[in-house]
Amino acid sequence: MATEQKPAYSPGLAGVVAGETEICWVDPNAGLMYRGYDIHKLAEEASFEEVAHLLIKGELPNFEQLGKFTRAIAAERTLPKQVLDVLRLMPKNTHPMDMLRTGVSMLAPFDVDLNDNSHEANVRKAIRLIAKVSTLITDGYRIQHGEEPLPEKSDLTLAGNFFYKLNGEVPQAWQIRMMDTIFILYADHEFNASTFAARVTASTLADMYAAVTSACGTLKGPLHGGANEESMKMLEEIKTPDRAEKWMMDALAQKKKIMGFGHRVYKKGDSRVPIMREIGRDLGKRVGKEQWVPICEQLEATMEREKQLCANVDLYAAPVFTMFGFDPALNTPIFAASRVAGWCAHVIEQHDHNRLIRPRSLYTGPELRPYPGTPHNGAPAKR
Ligand code: ACO
Repeated sequence: MATEQKPAYSPGLAGVVAGETEICWVDPNAGLMYRGYDIHKLAEEASFEEVAHLLIKGELPNFEQLGKFTRAIAAERTLPKQVLDVLRLMPKNTHPMDMLRTGVSMLAPFDVDLNDNSHEANVRKAIRLIAKVSTLITDGYRIQHGEEPLPEKSDLTLAGNFFYKLNGEVPQAWQIRMMDTIFILYADHEFNASTFAARVTASTLADMYAAVTSACGTLKGPLHGGANEESMKMLEEIKTPDRAEKWMMDALAQKKKIMGFGHRVYKKGDSRVPIMREIGRDLGKRVGKEQWVPICEQLEATMEREKQLCANVDLYAAPVFTMFGFDPALNTPIFAASRVAGWCAHVIEQHDHNRLIRPRSLYTGPELRPYPGTPHNGAPAKR
């Protein structure tokens, strides 16, 4: 017998405000800001370290603070030998996101601040995680492909070093600028699924590594971060712009979910798409692969006409990463290399103003009914 009124319910928590944050605001009308700064300006001019400082420490750094923060991240890049040994033991077919999730979890006991959730200790852990998540991805990938990890280049920023350690060549200034822009675009997005998972975990007063492990698991799904790997499969299948409209019409007729389209918050377009589209166009010219952006644009126009759905950043991120020479299996880990800054900022905020996140559910099972007794042979045991 029901003892309470049925509570209000929103499937998928759509439209539900689940907490307050000072870190990031997603404007449904296609805007995005980090702590009051427009993403467009940051993406054009800032470095990833600058934005990570803004997210983690609350303000943009001055010249001296930026140097100190950049050096602090660079000093934390190396992985413990035991973690590298475990990466070597993982089956060769392990998805890089699974490798990353395992690696983050393994790093926890090596951090002397692990169980200290104070603001200062959390900032120290955030710096370590931002540095080491990148290394887990680059070193994990090389190990998986039978190669030795490349040594760090201390004079390269996080974005430059990430590029170098994956591709094996020192990036040019324009490549580092593009990588910084991409990392800035992906760095935070308020209560997206992986960040929310991190905050739920942190709200139990579990440590930052536990929260980032939860976030990695959540990011992997194709409705969230995993979409950028799936988008690339779709673009490879379409091959040329003239085939895009028919491909989309066929897919929609089959009621398929098209990866890289739709968004829970943005209904008038994803604020990050125009910047990522321009990077795609520029990169396409530089590397002689100009077909990808027109394919995406044709898909966008068809989807807009048929279902009034907009592209999200993953549609254009996928070919951008491919044109950089990265394996599409790394698309979601690249997202994680950047989003870890946002995850950590949210864990710090959660721990600083904590209240357990524990929603209710709407019970839809049977009404109260009598227990029929244990179905074993013979008479039921009596007390
Ligand atoms: N392809 C086809 N139809 C879609 C798509 C899509 N990508 N996205 C939404 N729709 C349709 C839904 O089927 C639904 O149609 P209906 O009303 O006829 O049933 C309608 O649009 C509304 O969609 P919802 O499912 O209510 O949207 P929701 O907010 O729940 O989901 C999500 C948002 C998960 C992003 C969804 O749009 C989707 O699955 N997109 C593809 C995966 C993707 O690209 N994810 C990346 C998100 S951005 C990021 O993580 C960086």
